[in-house]
Amino acid sequence: MPAEIHRRTGLPLLAEAEKDLARAKELLQIEGVKGLQLRSPLLLHAAAAVELPGFSKLASIPSVVLGEGVKPLPRLKIRNLDLPYPIIQGGMGVGVSWEGLAGAVARTGCVGIVSAIGTGNHFPDMVELRQGRPLGPENLNNSEALARIVKEAIRRSEGKGAVGVNILCAIQGYERVVRASVDAGAQLIISGAGLPLNLPGYVGDADVALLPIVSSARALGLICKTWQRKFNRLPDAVVLEGPESGGHQGFSAEQIADPAFSLEALLGPVVEERNKWGDFPVIVAGGVWDRADIDRFLALGAGGVQIATRFIGTLECDADANFKEVILKAEKKDIQLVKSPVGMPGRAVVAGLQASMLDGTAPKIRCISDCVSPCEHGVGAREVGYCIADRLEDARSGKKATGLFFTGSNGWKLKELVSVRELVAELTQDF
Ligand SMILES: Cc1cc2nc3c(=O)[nH]c(=O)nc-3n(C[C@H](O)[C@H](O)[C@H](O)COP(=O)(O)O)c2cc1C
Repeated sequence: MPAEIHRRTGLPLLAEAEKDLARAKELLQIEGVKGLQLRSPLLLHAAAAVELPGFSKLASIPSVVLGEGVKPLPRLKIRNLDLPYPIIQGGMGVGVSWEGLAGAVARTGCVGIVSAIGTGNHFPDMVELRQGRPLGPENLNNSEALARIVKEAIRRSEGKGAVGVNILCAIQGYERVVRASVDAGAQLIISGAGLPLNLPGYVGDADVALLPIVSSARALGLICKTWQRKFNRLPDAVVLEGPESGGHQGFSAEQIADPAFSLEALLGPVVEERNKWGDFPVIVAGGVWDRADIDRFLALGAGGVQIATRFIGTLECDADANFKEVILKAEKKDIQLVKSPVGMPGRAVVAGLQASMLDGTAPKIRCISDCVSPCEHGVGAREVGYCIADRLEDARSGKKATGLFFTGSNGWKLKELVSVRELVAELTQDF
């Protein structure tokens, strides 16, 4: 399977050699495999002692490479969940984080998040289509398809970590999708793109952690005040999403360029606001890349991090290999803010779709799925020149010419595909 992905994308593929040197030698024989990921200290130790074909014998390996002497990360406590690592994989729609990615992330002891949008595209046989697209919100954000994805992610998690669902407030049928997530067994709901002021009312007494996404202390204050007054409940954690994140932004283009709106600058006031209400964790998102970033934000008062873009570069990420190729081959200059029918700027790789909009060959806007309320049935789509539901689905399914490929501002740093297990080991420095 790994060699297959390599052949399709033309990207360098480094086989995951685990701890077993015999297996490592076997992997090197697979057509297309260019080398081994000797990230696991266990394998590094072993490789230091043995000669692998095509590799010079590794001499002394610095202890820092072996992850020795690194302080363990703190655990993450959210409501009744007590998780080994303070890492949440950010929900990525359409279909970039479904059962494959969310299940694999949870299995490592982190939080795996299923994206609730466009689930009808995953199981087209379960829904009604028109011209190949799910007809209306019930088919696009289909409850039964979502339940199947959530249950499968939970099964793949093998009882480790936690599995949650990301639901945009702006989608048509928001309440129905929240209820379907709870019924399917989601342990957390993360909700943004608007203020989820009525979210606790939709989950009732169910034991599910609620994490609103905010981009300011003011938004957090408003949510806490409303939830406490109307539902006698506070957030179980809050996700603070800064302007380096992928997909839709909670900021204007001017704010994104202003250092006063950097994630570091926003964190202090949000922690202060949180302190007025309780001690639930503040989870930072947007541009968190490695263990050094995690340590820096934890030192600034965050209780955890939400990371999305790095998980696009994993074998388990649910998007088509072409999606991964577009992101992995993107250069810094290709990642830009684009206008979106949702009304906020989005961050994406500028590729075939944008070129087709310039030369007048962009796909027609048909509004078959009626996906998000701010678009008002295609009004917003016609203003910006594309339908968000159709273009994100084309990206997920690997259509390079017509897809909209969301990424965080760090997308250009991704250069190879690794397994979720490898990535989490690197992020946590826990091998
Ligand atoms: C491809 C992609 C799709 C995304 N889709 C969603 C989404 O549907 N809902 C949401 O709340 N956030 C979405 N995000 C934002 C992420 O959940 C996350 O908060 C953010 O990207 C974190 O920054 P990072 O990508 O630099 O790690 C998306 C991000 C990416 C890269």
